[in-house]
Amino acid sequence: MTQTVPARQDIASGREQSWVYFNGDIVRYADAKVGLLTHALNYGTGIFEGIRAYWNERKEQLFVMRMPEHYERMQVNARTMLMKLEPSIDELCAVSLELLRRNAYREDAYLRPLLFKAAEVIGVRLHDVPESLGIVTTPMGDYVGTEGIRCMISSWRRIDDNMAPVRAKATGLYVNAALAKSEALQAGFDEAIMLGHDGHVSEGSGENIFVVRRGQLLTPPPSDNILEGITRATIIHLAREELGLEVQQRSIDRTELYMSDEIFMCGTGAQVAPVIEVDRRRIGDGEPGPMSLRLKDLYLDLARGDSAKYAEWLTPVY
Ligand SMILES: Cc1ncc(COP(=O)(O)O)c(C=O)c1O
Repeated sequence: MTQTVPARQDIASGREQSWVYFNGDIVRYADAKVGLLTHALNYGTGIFEGIRAYWNERKEQLFVMRMPEHYERMQVNARTMLMKLEPSIDELCAVSLELLRRNAYREDAYLRPLLFKAAEVIGVRLHDVPESLGIVTTPMGDYVGTEGIRCMISSWRRIDDNMAPVRAKATGLYVNAALAKSEALQAGFDEAIMLGHDGHVSEGSGENIFVVRRGQLLTPPPSDNILEGITRATIIHLAREELGLEVQQRSIDRTELYMSDEIFMCGTGAQVAPVIEVDRRRIGDGEPGPMSLRLKDLYLDLARGDSAKYAEWLTPVY
C-alpha cells in the first residue's frame, strides 16, 4: 500500500492549528506569539524539557514516558536559573495530557515544555525578568538512527559546570551542542561525542553515552559535565535489574571508546542508539552489539507499554 506523505504546507498548518499551553491558557499554536526582543530569544535564558509519548497500536493507547520525572527536573532546573515554574508537577502533567488528547495523536509524539525569560527588555541578567511557560506537542519519529550510528569526537568541548549549569537543560547551552552536531553532520558522521574540559568523554549533542568493556557497562559520572538524563537512569536500572549487569559510573578516556566492545547513546529523543563507529574506527565487529540491542528492546518495550513490570513509569493519555 502506498502511503500519502503530507505536503509541507499541510504539516505546517497542522502545527499552526495544534493546541498548545501558553501562560495558563490552552490556545492554538498560531496564537502563541513572542516578540523579537524577548529576553530568552536574545540571551538564551530559558529551560526546556523533551518528553516522549509512545503510541501502542495493539492497546490503542498513547503512553507518556516518565512524565513527572521530567517536570521534577524542570522544577529543579528553574531554581538554578533563578526562575519559578509556577504550576505544580500534577498540574503540568494534567495539562500535558489535555494537550495530547486535544491534538488526538494516534502515533508517537513529543512534548516540549519551555520556561523562558519573556520580558522584551535589553540587558543581560536573570533576576527581575518575568517568565512565560509554553508547552508544545508534535508528532515525533526517530531523532537519530537506531540501527547503528557513526560518531566523531567533536573538536568542541562540552561546556564545564563552572561556566554554565550543564545539568539545567538551559536553551543557551545548546549552542555548544549545535556546534558539535553540525560539525559532525557536515563531516559525514551521524552524531558528535564531546569531551569535557579535562579530556574525559562527556556525552553526545543530545544524548548520554554508555560503553561496554569486558562485560561491564560504563557511563560517565554526573561530575563529567553530563546532563543527568532520565533515559540514562532508566538504562542503568534495566541493565542492573533485567540483565544483572554491573554498571560503573566513572570517567572514560577517548581511546577507551576505540577499544570498547560496544557503545550506545541514549536520550528521550535518541532512545537507544547503538554506535558502530567512532572516528572511523569500527566498534566491536561494526554491528550493533548484543548488549546494546538487548537494552534497546527492553527500553522500547517498556516505553511502548508492553512491559507490565514498569507500568508505573508510563502515564496513559486516553
Ligand atoms: C545534552 C543532553 N544530554 C543528554 C540528554 C538525555 O536526557 P534525557 O534522557 O533526560 O532525555 C539530552 C536530552 O534531553 C540532552 O539534551
